[in-house]
Amino acid sequence: DWTMSAYREQMIEKIRAQVGKGRVLCALSGGVDSAVAAVLIHEAIGEQLTCVFVDHGLMRQGEGDQVVSLFREHFNIPLVNVDASDLFIGQLEGVTDPEAKRKIIGKLFIDVFDDEAKKIASDGRGAPQFLAQGTLYPDVIESVSFSGGPSVTIKSHHNVGGLPARMNMQLVEPLRELFKDEVRALGRELGLPDFFVGRHPFPGPGLAIRLPGGVTREKLDILRKADAIYLDEIRKAGLYDTIWQAFAVLLPVQTVGVMGDGRTYDSVCALRAVTSVDGMTADFFPYDMNFLGRAATRIINEVKGINRVVYDVTSKPPGTIEWE
Ligand code: XMP
Repeated sequence: DWTMSAYREQMIEKIRAQVGKGRVLCALSGGVDSAVAAVLIHEAIGEQLTCVFVDHGLMRQGEGDQVVSLFREHFNIPLVNVDASDLFIGQLEGVTDPEAKRKIIGKLFIDVFDDEAKKIASDGRGAPQFLAQGTLYPDVIESVSFSGGPSVTIKSHHNVGGLPARMNMQLVEPLRELFKDEVRALGRELGLPDFFVGRHPFPGPGLAIRLPGGVTREKLDILRKADAIYLDEIRKAGLYDTIWQAFAVLLPVQTVGVMGDGRTYDSVCALRAVTSVDGMTADFFPYDMNFLGRAATRIINEVKGINRVVYDVTSKPPGTIEWE
């Protein structure tokens, strides 16, 4: 793509001009935006960049490993991988309020990242003066023009709000002028694999906001399995790229079922899928009933702990895309 290759060169020059001989820290979230930003910055300044991946244990199945191997093996970009899942899941114990979950996750993320940054700053190569973020154009607009509703609070985690001031760092935000589809095009231009670049958006607080009623390791495991089966069926049906975002939610509700000659009393799993342009409004995806039946049967048969599946037919507004 001609335009993207020109943009790439232009941004590389800009990053070099801003950073000079300075050091840059980049917090990888596991998502597409921060990964594209990191690869671009690495191309511009090489080992002046240090990437930190804070694994909060709230990712989808296989997601953490994918990011780590993508950076280390595919791009040969060194990555500090911090497994902080015990800390996050421990602090979330008993917390049911969605905004409280977001606050805890956002704060812990900053604490953990800050600790890593201090270690990196004392590695003998000098303290990093810059913090890289994968902020997109819609994030920039959203943060000034919105004043209510769940999407307002969102970027607090993703964009590591509060860190630059606390650490006295300048921001490097090479994607600030781009929309999501342009970031994907830039990612492909930089050699990120299609499956990675085409991934559905995923919220910073991760699976924690898909577990109404509270987070436990056990519930996370059940949800992760159901979600992986659902996404697998979506890919097999060739629908992944038509749908803007799809995921499972594990409800804190148990219902009666029958399996073999026994009675079960297990959790309900809700499936969500929407089409959208930017996430601000969305329509529920009109699946063929056969598809839903297939996904439900597989989830109930393969995931211990779930015995009923329902489909969410709420559009946004009045619903939000996430359940919390
Ligand atoms: P809602 O649920 O507000 O979601 O309709 C709109 C889009 O934003 C994502 N989302 C979040 N992203 N932190 C994030 O980084 C959050 O706290 C958060 N809450 C919602 C959601 O997945 C959808 O893509």
